[in-house]
Amino acid sequence: QTFFTPIHQATPPSPTKHHTKISVIGVGNVGMAIAQTILTQDLVDELALVDSNPNKLRGEMLDLQHAAAFLPRTKILASVDYAVTAGSDLCIVTAGARQIARESRLNLLQRNLELFRMIIPPLAKNSPDGILLVVSNPVDVLTFVAWKLSGFSSNRVIGSGTNLDSSRFRFLIADHLDVNAQDVQAYIVGEHGDSSVALWSSISVGGVPVLSFLDKQAIKYEKETLENIHKAVIQGAYEVINLKGYTSWAIGYSVASLARSILRNQRKIHPVSILAKNFYGIDGEVFLSLPAQLGRAGVLGVTNAHLTDEEMQQLRDSAKTIMEFQTQLGL
Ligand code: NAI
Ligand code: 2OP
Repeated sequence: QTFFTPIHQATPPSPTKHHTKISVIGVGNVGMAIAQTILTQDLVDELALVDSNPNKLRGEMLDLQHAAAFLPRTKILASVDYAVTAGSDLCIVTAGARQIARESRLNLLQRNLELFRMIIPPLAKNSPDGILLVVSNPVDVLTFVAWKLSGFSSNRVIGSGTNLDSSRFRFLIADHLDVNAQDVQAYIVGEHGDSSVALWSSISVGGVPVLSFLDKQAIKYEKETLENIHKAVIQGAYEVINLKGYTSWAIGYSVASLARSILRNQRKIHPVSILAKNFYGIDGEVFLSLPAQLGRAGVLGVTNAHLTDEEMQQLRDSAKTIMEFQTQLGL
């Protein structure tokens, strides 16, 4: 006698209904913000968590499982063993050292490179057809590392990149113009961090190109005002880290939005870190953010955005900055 009495024979799941699974590696501030946003958005059937700290890992798993009565049904698993990630559609890597106040992201490279040597091979082995989404910093260089260590095709290795910086940018522009950030189309590309590039020429609000609108109306705008908004985007992360020690909520929503576009095959355009070789005159094997269309196969394509000569030069300089760090790796 079981508690539940079935009224008809259980049928196997329909072959047309795809079972979806996400694994999150690293259950720190960032991993947990991503995990909880994914759960609230009902994105997957199964969520697997991995961390090297077994007590923290089990504690976080139980805490999330205890919210079951308030969430869409998702099976939550956790283990220090990568076997728990087997068959993932998407693996999100957030494990690693984070910056202390005023430390740059690129300064984390050596510490997090060693962790990636332990994390990426078993992850790739357990989900050979999955997509890798890197969040740990410095995200652009570590996405390159994940690509090399996984042996995956480049369309299946993505860094969260400037999807977050672009959200900060859209928030600040919206605040400045007193409009809704969701009506602001604006991209930050290049490195996620200090050498990022703001694409001023392509900003539009509700379909109206902002700079040409101001020009046509003979409304004066100071280049300095624009530069200050970009500076505030760059400083934003440092300020949050200075105040609360880490950033978490915005990256949680940013990565959940990427997971949705990928798993639901949304073909949505996001500025994310991808293999940029042969785009916009970049000739090296470097990962940096470009506006990319995302879907079930990972990166589906790159938008041919119009960049001014100045923006193009800044993008190449950003690529050079990342390359300088990459060449030290010997990968
Ligand atoms: P945290 O210190 O709260 O968490 C890091 C977690 O990684 C810990 O739970 C730790 O036990 C785990 N870990 C360490 N070594 C591991 C290993 N070998 N295998 C599995 N797990 C391991 O740090 P937080 O705040 O969660 O940040 C994580 C990373 O995300 C940092 O590199 C940070 O810079 C980056 N980050 C990236 C953002 C982006 O936009 N790309 C935004 C915010 C943070
Ligand atoms: C952020 O931009 C620190 O990369 C992290 O929030």
